[in-house]
Amino acid sequence: MSESQSVQVFPPPADFAAQATISGMDAYRALCAEAEQDYEGYWARLAREHVTWKQPFTQTLDESNAPFFKWFADGKLNVSHNCIDRNIEAGLGDKTAIIFEADGGEVTHVSYKELLVRVSRFANALKAQGVKKGDRVVIYLPMSIEGIVAMQACARIGATHSVVFGGFSAQSLRDRINDAGAVLLITSDGQCRGGKALPLKPIADEALAMGGCESIKKVVVWQRTGAACAMTEGRDIFWQDFVAGQADYCEPEWVEAEHPLFLLYTSGSTGKPKGVQHSSGGYLLHAILTMKWTFDLKANDVFWCTADIGWVTGHTYITYGPLACGGTEIVFEGVPTYPDAGRFWKMIQDHKVSIFYTAPTAIRSLIKAADTNAAVHPKSFDLSSLRLLGSVGEPINPAAWSWYHDNVGGGRCPIVDTFWQTETGGHMITPLPGVTPLVPGSCTLPFPGIQAAIVDETGTELDWGKGGILVVKRPWPSMIRTIWNDPDRFQTSYYPADFNGKLYLAGDGATRDAETGYFTITGRIDDVLNVSGHRMGTMEIESALVSHPLVAEAAVVGRPDDLTGEAICAFVVLKGERPEGDAAKKVIKELQDHVGKLIGPIAKPKDIRFGENLPKTRSGKIMRRLLRSLAKGEEVTQDTSTLENPAILAQLSHTAG
Ligand code: WT7
Repeated sequence: MSESQSVQVFPPPADFAAQATISGMDAYRALCAEAEQDYEGYWARLAREHVTWKQPFTQTLDESNAPFFKWFADGKLNVSHNCIDRNIEAGLGDKTAIIFEADGGEVTHVSYKELLVRVSRFANALKAQGVKKGDRVVIYLPMSIEGIVAMQACARIGATHSVVFGGFSAQSLRDRINDAGAVLLITSDGQCRGGKALPLKPIADEALAMGGCESIKKVVVWQRTGAACAMTEGRDIFWQDFVAGQADYCEPEWVEAEHPLFLLYTSGSTGKPKGVQHSSGGYLLHAILTMKWTFDLKANDVFWCTADIGWVTGHTYITYGPLACGGTEIVFEGVPTYPDAGRFWKMIQDHKVSIFYTAPTAIRSLIKAADTNAAVHPKSFDLSSLRLLGSVGEPINPAAWSWYHDNVGGGRCPIVDTFWQTETGGHMITPLPGVTPLVPGSCTLPFPGIQAAIVDETGTELDWGKGGILVVKRPWPSMIRTIWNDPDRFQTSYYPADFNGKLYLAGDGATRDAETGYFTITGRIDDVLNVSGHRMGTMEIESALVSHPLVAEAAVVGRPDDLTGEAICAFVVLKGERPEGDAAKKVIKELQDHVGKLIGPIAKPKDIRFGENLPKTRSGKIMRRLLRSLAKGEEVTQDTSTLENPAILAQLSHTAG
């Protein structure tokens, strides 16, 4: 925001601020000051007010084994009890918890009472199967009521779930099952997306056949598409048979606040994906607080987060947050472009959605569609029920922000651009809609109590106006607890010795506006890409590429993409001759499919270029900065005098074929 004079600022609309749970900058500052003066007291107060405890905690933050922090450690609770039972006890039993809309448009309403029955029956079935507190359960399901029921049922009995996104490959599923040592897998015959039925159980079978999944004793199969699927005798059981005869009520398992609610695997800069471990108490607290403060959720709202339960956004803002606040939420199975690109707008109109939370990539693709077809333009729908919009997963470019604001929000809805990560559990830097004047492209200010800062390489905090490394100075309740099976990696990734092990390293670069102190995220500072809001490690894609028999060496970088934010660009050296023309096209397709098969379709490189070699320094290090310039199509300005073979730059500057 260097030209801050010309930046447009959107103050909170007066009518929004008047009714907001946190209203006005003074209220925000008061909360920040409370946290500043008595950090533990602040979080303890909120944890007592917003979470229902079976056994109250007496200790707030335990830093004795830093950076393995504990919050509310001697308190006991059950997350599913907080999400379901306490709402029923508060008289909301008949309120709609979930409005599910299937790919084909069929709508199902589930009340809190009905949810309790469905969760209880599944929880009792898990118990009957011998699944107990602390066991890991892998969930490989499409967007569905069943997905939420499965997660809540795990929470109810204290089993730790690990959801694997339905777009991940057999290999990825196998690796996650193996790392977690899961005892049970929940999947479906298939999934419905865009009018097509896609298989899921066959992929799960392939994963289990790979070896390393011997810990799995049972596979529960929900029949979604009705496709015939092979069932392994003694191991596989259909959902309806699994729950048959189970009681309608399951007593919650009261767990310690630190009990691992879930693992969620995410990509890092090196090595295999890491199993981010989250707690029960601290995680739930932040899910609730952000629902109430960032989303200003009220009793009559209809909340819609378009994420998939396979990502953290789906965990916090579909499975847990909205339900823990007694809200009504939309759960959507399908895709934004089916039957046409007006689907989101039609659903907002049909269900009178009041709070809508989606990703910039989705907005950008819908802008494109609306530009060419007035029938799918948001203006062709009645979106007057909307009062608040949200954005998540990647930076939102000001043009997309303005379109979202004007055309979807009718110019009257604030947009909360929420910065956070799988590891943070919930929002970290975000506007509060009744408080924060908005600047398109900026996630503005830290959530009250979150001590975000920007430092240099030595960990010294920088003055506003300067760019640097985004860190969090104090532990917060919903933070990652460890990496499953790899506490050392937790420590080195997030509390590196460079900062004396005292600062949480987010992995992003950021700047702060010199006058307002507003944060703007400038992107990852490690080898992690963000493609359509999905996080991908370059090393993972490189390993997949070099596992192909034709490939000798590969380097992967990101390049800016108008639609997906970043696109994956791979530079590949083949074992044989460097192909050209149609031969090159054939190999490109083969390599894309290979990566798709190993990791999942989202990891397929958009651009693959062949060279006889890769640009390296004398010591043999790949010059990635140079590759990034080539990927962008920029003139190479770096010093290339150290290159063995400068001719390869010309080879790598364009896609073959
Ligand atoms: C990375 C985390 C947050 C849940 C979904 C993604 C980027 C996330 C924003 C935002 C700019 C953002 C960061 C972050 N990111 N939200 N509002 N503005 N960048 O979770 O897969 O763990 O990815 O997404 O680079 O580190 P994730």
